[in-house]
Amino acid sequence: MDPIALISKYYQPDSETYRILVAHSRSVAEKALAIARLHPEMGMDLSFIEEAAMLHDIGIYRCHAPSIGCFGSYAYICHGYLGADLLRQEGFSQHALVCERHTGTGISLQMIEEQQLPLPCRDMQPISLEEQLICFADKFYSKTKLDKEKSIDKVIRGLARYGDETVDRFNGWCKLFLGE
Ligand SMILES: [Fe+2]
Repeated sequence: MDPIALISKYYQPDSETYRILVAHSRSVAEKALAIARLHPEMGMDLSFIEEAAMLHDIGIYRCHAPSIGCFGSYAYICHGYLGADLLRQEGFSQHALVCERHTGTGISLQMIEEQQLPLPCRDMQPISLEEQLICFADKFYSKTKLDKEKSIDKVIRGLARYGDETVDRFNGWCKLFLGE
């Protein structure tokens, strides 16, 4: 499969949103691949990682985020499952799981219910190693400061507002993937 061809089906290749989406997704894909190559013992699927990382944010255009050129009607937090719906329709059900499980460090059913998030009531936490790795790599890149990788401390400061569980999960990944 060709992720860029799929992105081009939903985003105008000469648009600012396309530029932001592709640049961000490429940063995430490269970081995820670099980490995966450090861990041959984990046996992760490198081509899947590259494809799914390129597509993890494909749902953003359906959300309301004018600063990155997205004028859809949904809340931004919905971009994961909306991208997943799109990829399922395209026949990529494994890649779809990466989309809907990459927000924060994953969103549990309990979080959806307790915080009454505008999401379908199902667990959206990353499960496979590839899902966890892409979610982890994504935390280092924003869509506003495109070429700047955040430090681990900065990522943790950003995640702290979502609670201890979120920070603990991220710290667990630092240990698992980076040995830190
Ligand atoms: Fe992302």
